Amino acid sequence: MRKHIIAGNWKMNLTPNEAKALVEELAPKVQNSNCEVVVCPPAIDIQAVSEAIKGTNIQLGAQNVHWKENGAFTGEISAKMLLELGVKYAIVGHSERRQYFGETDETVNQRAKYALTSGLIPIICVGESLEIREAGTTNDFVSKQIVAALNGFSGQQVQSLVIAYEPIWAIGTGKTATSQEANDTILAIRNTIAKVFGKETAQNTRIQYGGSMNAKNASELMAMENIDGGLIGGASLKAEDFATICAVASK
Ligand code: PGA
Repeated sequence: MRKHIIAGNWKMNLTPNEAKALVEELAPKVQNSNCEVVVCPPAIDIQAVSEAIKGTNIQLGAQNVHWKENGAFTGEISAKMLLELGVKYAIVGHSERRQYFGETDETVNQRAKYALTSGLIPIICVGESLEIREAGTTNDFVSKQIVAALNGFSGQQVQSLVIAYEPIWAIGTGKTATSQEANDTILAIRNTIAKVFGKETAQNTRIQYGGSMNAKNASELMAMENIDGGLIGGASLKAEDFATICAVASK
């Protein structure tokens, strides 16, 4: 059984004080969740959130992580730094990182590999543009992204990480993939993992959907066999909405 995982990607929102206030509001609302509840604040908010979630069932994630332990990499953050603050997950290869900050399949692979061997659980993001969706080559495209991101991993490692399928055209647009589209593409990802790492690994690997998931559409998406949770942007900034999504994922 794959346990549902709901992760809030706060992106570049909230100051440390605002972040603390949001998790304090969220904690009682998700305390009975039967899914994993993760928040991924901006790096500068991590310390405040780490303290505020003590004793709750909320877990902490980062929005990125570097592939070296330390060194001359201005602006980057290492796994060791994150682990010291109690961070468990790290988003890697979000489409905004790929689009605006030059992240490539290769750097995604490096970041994910180092995160995993350091003891973090990477949430590896893949997803197609509208152009690719309309050309009908989505499955092919995301399968290639997955193979590149997981290059050099063992099956055991793959089943311990999380994948997020996030169609770029659905992110922050209010336009969600239909539950069928999301499920079909996630199935294609699972089949690719099966081909490379074997059926059992594919069956055990959690794959989330992300892209305008909200309190209203979560139940339809979460009802699909292959969707193991969500990576939530906008709706994760509202405690009530995020808690509703966690409740839906707990069923
Ligand atoms: P959204 O963002 O829910 O605001 O579409 C999802 C994401 O980018 O992870």
